[in-house]
Amino acid sequence: MNATQEQLRVKLEQALVAAFGDEYAKVDPILVPASNPKFGDYQANVALSLSKKLGQQPRAIASAIVEKLDVSQICETPEIAGPGFINLKLKTAYLEAQLNAIHADSGLGVPTAKHPQREIVDFSSPNIAKEMHVGHLRSTIIGDSIARILEFRGHDVLRLNHVGDWGTQFGMLITHLREVYPTLSNTDYFESPLGQYLLNPDSVNIGDLVEFYREAKKKFDNDADFRERSRKAVVELQSGDIHARHAWAVLCEASRQEFKKIYDLLDIQSLIERGESYYNSSLPQVVEDLEKSGLLVENEGAKCVFLDGFKNREGEPLPLIVQKSDGGYNYATTDLAALRYRIQKDEAKRIIYVTDAGQANHFDQIFKVAHKARWIPDGVELVHVPFGLVLGEDGKKFKTRAGDTVRLRDLLDEAVARARADLEVRLKEEQREETAEFIDKVAQVVGISAVKYADLSQNRTSNYIFSYDKMLDLKGNTAPYMLYAYARIQGISRKGGIDFTQLGDNAKVILQHETEFALAKHLLQLGEIISTVEEDLLPNRLCEYLYELSKKFNVFYDRNKGVPVLNAEEPLRTSRLVLCDLTARTLKQGLWFLGIEVLERM
Ligand code: ARG
Repeated sequence: MNATQEQLRVKLEQALVAAFGDEYAKVDPILVPASNPKFGDYQANVALSLSKKLGQQPRAIASAIVEKLDVSQICETPEIAGPGFINLKLKTAYLEAQLNAIHADSGLGVPTAKHPQREIVDFSSPNIAKEMHVGHLRSTIIGDSIARILEFRGHDVLRLNHVGDWGTQFGMLITHLREVYPTLSNTDYFESPLGQYLLNPDSVNIGDLVEFYREAKKKFDNDADFRERSRKAVVELQSGDIHARHAWAVLCEASRQEFKKIYDLLDIQSLIERGESYYNSSLPQVVEDLEKSGLLVENEGAKCVFLDGFKNREGEPLPLIVQKSDGGYNYATTDLAALRYRIQKDEAKRIIYVTDAGQANHFDQIFKVAHKARWIPDGVELVHVPFGLVLGEDGKKFKTRAGDTVRLRDLLDEAVARARADLEVRLKEEQREETAEFIDKVAQVVGISAVKYADLSQNRTSNYIFSYDKMLDLKGNTAPYMLYAYARIQGISRKGGIDFTQLGDNAKVILQHETEFALAKHLLQLGEIISTVEEDLLPNRLCEYLYELSKKFNVFYDRNKGVPVLNAEEPLRTSRLVLCDLTARTLKQGLWFLGIEVLERM
């Protein structure tokens, strides 16, 4: 609900009390956007719902409310329509004043949160020594966007990268590393002040990590002796043996450098790595505390928690295992430990986990166990933000033509290469000469933002089909379309020799034409959209909003359907330039929320 709607709601509540007495103080006026813009901007439907209780005709009730309703500052005289709807139409002067206000506001009317709080966004979270796949790409893009929005709203956001840097797979990796680098020595490392072992980056080059993983796995599967050494390496690693730890650190660092390349390409900032290993020492305590709270059950040697409603395929109760029969801990134990840490040490009030929908069950169980164990104080919210699969154009799981998983690096490079090819065709058609820097920059921004936008513009809960052609299309709900709208507005300022930032406080909006009204009303909704996304964590709503905005702008600026801007007479010219500027700033801000940088020219 935006500020205007909020004000109208309060006024309606007051009118209800004035008309029917105090017992109507808590009645919802049922104020909603007008079903048909012809009738106005909003409608209140409360009269229909009170008919029975008051024993009166809805139209009579509506008149009684309208008689006491004082909205003259905001609306034209309210009208009663149909069976008893109260129609409200915003006054032009009111809209103009609102636009002047957001024009002067660097936050474009997005209010700061009433109760700023510590919020954690757990996203990206790839696994060490494995390739980051498209699922991690989705998590990274969605998580980053959510974090940006929450931060802008004034929350204290902690971006956490829960990398998979622990577990039995390290046994084979360490063993393989020792075979490849028999001389690996302790002098290649130093201990950082934070107690982490950092690899001297120049001393070891693992090369292609995915290949490395594959080779290790092959030996593991085929060589019993290798398997035995791997098993021992796991024990060494877990018991803190310094050599095993060093080998582990080498692997982590090599992965980290690979991940960083992707994060740089995607402009992911302030993402703090706190991998699974971070919680290693607190795992026994998790199990002990669950034991104390009486939730733990031994099942075939494993320590488990049983929850109502969780069944396997055979319909038998499905437990959450927190300690395996060999004494080892797992993904779930680590998440329970992480959850406690985030509540106790980070003092998070909301914890958001961005992962594929396949983990919904896992988080459901983790959250329920944590609640049952009374680890979640009142007012702390745990949210799983699931997303669907990325599919190829054949509707099957996204793969290369050879059937391999697609590497993120390759995927992003391909998008940039295609953006470049499109641009070169366009430059030729338009007979434009541009510098190599310009072409590089535009290709980079368009390619990367096309990938991001294609992901974010889908309702994240559904699967989506990855198509370079669609995401790079200059028409349609795509990043290039939006970027183009922005660049077009900057073109107006260049053509007219106008510096938008110098329009000044005296530049006032005057609304006359219907395309101006449509654009203006849409511009006023950014704050509301952002609050909604803050709640439901669906960035696609913001994409839809921005797409609508670009379309409305294009109609407003259309030679036939819209109005002249640079050729208009004053004071309309300035007013329309303010609308242009507001559109550009809203696009820029909105795209920034999506992690997308704009281009002044493209
Ligand atoms: N590493 C996991 C994966 O690749 C994602 C971790 C998500 N975060 C968490 N706290 N479990 O699927």
